[in-house]
Order: sequence, then C-alpha cells, then structure tokens
Amino acid sequence: MKLSTILPLITSVSASCIRGTSLLPRAADGTVEVNPYNYTNLGSPFNWYGLDDDNSACSTGKNQSPIEIVTDEIDYVAPGALKFHVPNADNVKFENLGSGLEVVLTNGSLAANGRQYKLAQFHFHTPSEHRVDEEYFPMEAHFVFEDSESNIAVVGFVFQLSEFGFSLPLFDSVFAHIDDIAAPGTFTKTGALEFDQLTEHLYQHGIYEYSGSLTTPPCSEGVAWYVSTEPLPLNVQSYNKVKSILKFNARYTQNALGQDNLLEVAAEKLN
Ligand SMILES: *[C@@H]1O[C@H](CO)[C@@H](O)[C@H](O)[C@H]1NC(C)=O
Ligand SMILES: *[C@@H]1O[C@H](CO)[C@@H](O)[C@H](O)[C@H]1NC(C)=O
Ligand SMILES: [Zn+2]
Repeated sequence: MKLSTILPLITSVSASCIRGTSLLPRAADGTVEVNPYNYTNLGSPFNWYGLDDDNSACSTGKNQSPIEIVTDEIDYVAPGALKFHVPNADNVKFENLGSGLEVVLTNGSLAANGRQYKLAQFHFHTPSEHRVDEEYFPMEAHFVFEDSESNIAVVGFVFQLSEFGFSLPLFDSVFAHIDDIAAPGTFTKTGALEFDQLTEHLYQHGIYEYSGSLTTPPCSEGVAWYVSTEPLPLNVQSYNKVKSILKFNARYTQNALGQDNLLEVAAEKLN
C-alpha cells in the first residue's frame, strides 16, 4: 500500500482524541541528549563494549537481559506480592533519545521483594526484547524503578496487535504527539495519562520474575525484572507509527541466565 493511502487512515483515527489537545507547549527549552549506542552497524549491541569500556558487562555478564522466558522454568511473582502505583499525570515530557522513546515521569512507586522503588521513567522497544517460549512480540514497554540504594527494578509489558483495533487509552495518550519527535534529540508532551487499567492488567495476570540486567549500556546486572505474562493490546496505527520512529531498538536475546555471555563464547570460537 502506498503511504498516501495509509496516511488518511492514521489521521482519521487520531483526529478526535489524539490531536485534540494540540496546543500543548512545544518547549524550546531543555535538550535531549542522544545516546551514543544504537542498533545499527558499529553502534549495535554486538559492539557496545567497543564503544566504551564501562560497558564490559554487555560482553562478559552472565545474567544479561533480555532473555528468552521459558514459561515452564521461570519464577512467578506470588499473587499480591508486588505493588505498582503510578498516579495520573498530564503533559509529561516524552523524548526521542535516538536509541529509544522515553516518558520522563517520576511520580510512581513499586514495592516488591521487600524493596521500595520510585519510578524513574518508562520507555518502549520495537520489536519486543523479551521472547516468551521463543516467540517475540511487536512492542515492549519498560517501567524503570530505582530504590534509595540505586537498586533497579523494571516492570515490563509486551504488546500484541489488537484484532479489535484498540490500545489501552493510556498508550493512545502517550503517543498523542509522537509526530513531533520523529527526529532523535527532540521532545514533546504526552496527553493525560491514566494508569488504573494498566495496574489492573498487571494484577489480574501472572508476572514472570528474574534477576537480569539493563538491556542497554552499561548492561548493569542485579536488575529485578517483573514481566506481565499477558500481552497488552496495541492498535495497528500506533504500532506502525512507533515503529516508523523507533525503527528497531531491541537487543538480541542473551544466553540463558548464569551461562557464559554469548559474545565471549563467540569470541573464543573465532580465535
Ligand atoms: C550508531 O552509533 C554509532 C556509534 O556511536 C555511530 O557511529 C552511528 O552514526 C550511529 N548510527 C545511527 C544511525 O545513529
Ligand atoms: C507529580 O506529583 C507532584 C506532587 O504531587 C505534582 O505536583 C506533579 O504535578 C506531579 N507530576 C506530574 C507529571 O503529574
Ligand atoms: Zn528497555
């Protein structure tokens, strides 16, 4: 299909709810620093250590993320043992880091395994980083939390394209002004964000749990991962739009937890 045929579809879907609040400030102040790593050529995950020695965990760590989640083997969070709370927010900064699209929202908390974390931001990957019983998904969201001792926890959701053409309204609002941030280094504002349905979704389904790493440099380990077992619905228009801007930002699937880093294994074979 030609782009000119697709565009009116996108516009008509987004016209009412998405562009409705278009007079939000397009702040000229502040900057967004584009990350030095990416997913192409020398910037790609295979060479993250080559970009900076501080990224050595990316090539030597043995508990690296993302993993292939084996549903018969992974741990699950006990029902009620995780508390996720993000209050409603509006006009939140949404930025294009080159390597990803990030919502800079710090109002939010997570309590899990005796730790109290605060939200740092949430962001998106396409395609998904985690795979479940080898299957990948079109998109994944990561809510990144940190506690007072700098321990990091990430609550992840994979998305599946909706056969009924809808997303949670939360994500329609997140992507409301995504056209403004097609270029790396730019930022805009989200629409009104309501997290109740997302929280319900998290509580109503199982949650995979494991200890892994950041999926981007410096690939630090000891990250507590909590991934919803049930994909969220995503409408095709949002998916295509996000994909056209993110293009591709998923790190390749790492070796099973505790096993040698795939880059070390490969380097040894090459030598
Ligand atoms: C990716 O990152 C590398 C290393 O920083 C850089 O040389 C290259 O220009 C980047 N590519 C893109 C498409 O941003
Ligand atoms: C975060 O919470 C503070 C304190 O309640 C509030 O003033 C602020 O507006 C909130 N931020 C957003 C983005 O909603
Ligand atoms: Zn992420």
